[in-house]
Amino acid sequence: MNTLNVELGTRSYPIYIGSGLLGQKDLLQQHIKSKHVLVVTNTTVAELYLPLLIAGLEGYVLETVILPDGEQYKTLEWLNEIFDKLLAKKFSRNATLIALGGGVIGDMGGFAAACYQRGIVFLQIPTTLLAQVDSSVGGKTGVNHALGKNMIGAFYQPQCVIADADVLDTLDDRQFSAGLAEVIKYGLIRDVVFYKWLEDNIEKLMARDKQALAYAIEQSCLNKAQIVAEDETETGLRATLNLGHTFGHAIETGMGYGEYLHGEAVSIGACQAADLSRRKGWLSDADVARIIALFNAARLPVKPPKGLDAERFVSLMSVDKKNIDGQIRLILLKHIGEATLPMGVDLCLLTETLENYGRE
Ligand code: NAD
Ligand code: GLY
Repeated sequence: MNTLNVELGTRSYPIYIGSGLLGQKDLLQQHIKSKHVLVVTNTTVAELYLPLLIAGLEGYVLETVILPDGEQYKTLEWLNEIFDKLLAKKFSRNATLIALGGGVIGDMGGFAAACYQRGIVFLQIPTTLLAQVDSSVGGKTGVNHALGKNMIGAFYQPQCVIADADVLDTLDDRQFSAGLAEVIKYGLIRDVVFYKWLEDNIEKLMARDKQALAYAIEQSCLNKAQIVAEDETETGLRATLNLGHTFGHAIETGMGYGEYLHGEAVSIGACQAADLSRRKGWLSDADVARIIALFNAARLPVKPPKGLDAERFVSLMSVDKKNIDGQIRLILLKHIGEATLPMGVDLCLLTETLENYGRE
């Protein structure tokens, strides 16, 4: 097992990365200080991993909330199921909430933990690649609104993250690729050495070589932990983690939640951001081709959906947490391995990308 730390003073916490961690009850129990424990998961993950988790929680007063599976259930309405259970079972302020699942469950469980009685202890057990390399780390929690993705939420850090690489064995190929989109993102925004490693090792990763995968998860978490330690509440640097996300969120919202996986939308969005960076004169044609090739090699989509024209894109992109006074602000690339901070972009240039990139 490898342990990384997210350094946030008194709210610092460990990320445990390794094999067979879900069965290690001491690892989990050292972070539970209460008698009452609520596990939040979904139907798919419950069937696969809830029994193993529950086996490590003997002796606690244990309740579970099993939500339906899908991004379309990441809503305030379904969040209420968690509050209903916590209240019906009279869980008090020292209770512990464990989120067992992908990013949807982690974001919802974390937001419920942040809100219930103004904050209860929260543990993350991410079970998708995307959740292990990104969403479980850093304390962004929340739900979607029909008019905008992740628009309702809170920063709320977990007490620990337990990333057991073994659970990825049951992840289907499409979801696995979606996770790789966020892995590639770290290379693009701040780690050119890791980016080159990804180019050299993408075939091993796609074959789910355990050693390569462990390295990719560790490097991703290391990058994320460093960024979060420097800028927990996204006053600047943390926004670089949003490379491709403003385009991507527009795709997710515009096409209907669940149509494109989050990682797929990020892959397309990162390529659109690369195209715009080229139009700004920062990336070369060869850089953009190299970026598209890596997402392609990870079997991710790289072209925007035909059903979303430039005008609709702009309208959707104008609902984004990075925007200031209604102006769309984006993360672009100066080079492969160096992102800009959020910057206002010329609408004409953005429209050129939206109308031309991937539309041929
Ligand atoms: P997800 O949570 O929907 O999980 C993807 C699918 O995999 C689901 O069907 C799930 O049931 C299934 N699954 C989960 N673990 C499995 C396993 N081990 N084996 C088999 N199937 C499994 O999606 P995701 O990609 O994990 O997360 C996407 C969400 O994360 C989005 O809502 C996105 O906004 C959010 N996100 C949040 C942050 C953050 O910082 N909080 C960062 C990135 C993404
Ligand atoms: N995934 C974006 C962030 O954590 O800031």
